[in-house]
Amino acid sequence: MTRASHRKPFARLEWDRSSDAKLKPAELQLWSEAFPEPIQPNTAFQGRIIHGENASVMTALLDEFEGQIDLIYADPPFLTGKAYRARIGQGEDSRAPKSWRTTQGFHDNWSDGAAYLDMLFPRLQLMHNLLSESGTLYLHLDWHASAYARVLMDEIFGPDRLINEIVWVYHGPSPIRSAFNRKHDTILAYTKSKEYTFNADDVRVAYNPSTIKTFKSSPRAGFGKQPDLERGKVPEDWWYFPVVARLHKERTGYPTQKPEALLERIILASSNPGDLVADFFSGSGTSVSVAARLKRRWLACDPAPTAFTTTYRRLLMTSGVEPFTLWKTADTHNEPALDLEVQITTNEDQVEVRIETISSRDSTELHFPEDLVLWEVDWSHENEIFQSQSQVIRSWRSEELSLQLQHQYSSAGVYEIRIRAFDSLGRYGLFSYKVQFKQ
Ligand SMILES: C[S@@+](CC[C@H](N)C(=O)[O-])C[C@H]1O[C@@H](n2cnc3c(N)ncnc32)[C@H](O)[C@@H]1O
Repeated sequence: MTRASHRKPFARLEWDRSSDAKLKPAELQLWSEAFPEPIQPNTAFQGRIIHGENASVMTALLDEFEGQIDLIYADPPFLTGKAYRARIGQGEDSRAPKSWRTTQGFHDNWSDGAAYLDMLFPRLQLMHNLLSESGTLYLHLDWHASAYARVLMDEIFGPDRLINEIVWVYHGPSPIRSAFNRKHDTILAYTKSKEYTFNADDVRVAYNPSTIKTFKSSPRAGFGKQPDLERGKVPEDWWYFPVVARLHKERTGYPTQKPEALLERIILASSNPGDLVADFFSGSGTSVSVAARLKRRWLACDPAPTAFTTTYRRLLMTSGVEPFTLWKTADTHNEPALDLEVQITTNEDQVEVRIETISSRDSTELHFPEDLVLWEVDWSHENEIFQSQSQVIRSWRSEELSLQLQHQYSSAGVYEIRIRAFDSLGRYGLFSYKVQFKQ
């Protein structure tokens, strides 16, 4: 069979589909604007974190972004039948759960495989619609659903648009004794058209030392083809990167977090600086924080509250990140669930704010200051949109978190100071106070 005859799917997957409900667009609401420190001279917003369910979010985004996204990384639930919990609290990477506990992460339970495909198929179709003509979708799965997803992808993109089936291999402990340890994931890379971005030179890696030795001792080893040993090679379609394990600097505690090195290779290969990279199953925000670091524009979406706050914290801690916005949907539960006690002291044109404590409005256990993971200030709050102008962020393994911030006003006036604080469960609270400065 020739390659040309692969244009149409030569195999089709049929499953017990439930009715094809028309997707309703989410009502997207701008919630706040973030200006990470140090404030970048270019204040154009470069990214969005959207707290919501992706089918309705993507449907809503079609108006603005149809055919506009250059790279989509999709790491959905894998059809494992498990519910994943996020680890929160100090020392969440320790084996002994002394001070950490778990909270809701995301579920991967389906009534059957058909229900899973009902979820996946329309979302892959939406991603296809959002991709630009030169764009690529990387779909990350494992042995549970990858074979079925490939048939779906062939149907949506066409079989000849599969550019790679990448195998990510890793190692780690496993309880399995009745089969080989399952230690690889499968990433299907499909392009929208034949003209797609692929920056081979940006992802080259060194040749294996034994290859270098062979060619150095015998230049004719490659049947006359002499590789450029200095430049390195384009990687094979199997990649080894360690999983994000305990004690890794980048570990956030969010379940199934993927390694930044893996995302870096994907983003460097399939996008250019200034391109738009999206992740609609964004979890802890691995892809978008790498995209921001590599100067791409980005979109992240996830309905899990811990995913939203983890991504937000992570972006704020990413070096060189430019301003971005936070969005909610009309369906997202977005009421403050924390109370803040704050002390405000003014002196001439200076103000100091100090968080005294935070408490939960319901009976949920909350330890202060351990559970305070991020607090931020809008020094001159004016309308409904919170502008995060200063932030104090707890890093993943830090016990330290400053509880005070100062600010100097450059002109006289009455200012509303608004403070927002998040706890480790992804809940937030607000505090407002007016100060007046005279000339
Ligand atoms: C495998 S995890 C992603 C992990 C992520 N790549 C990382 O490095 O942290 C899958 C994510 O998809 C999210 N998810 C599940 N259903 C979703 C939906 N309908 N819309 C948006 N996100 C969804 C889950 O909340 C979860 O965070």
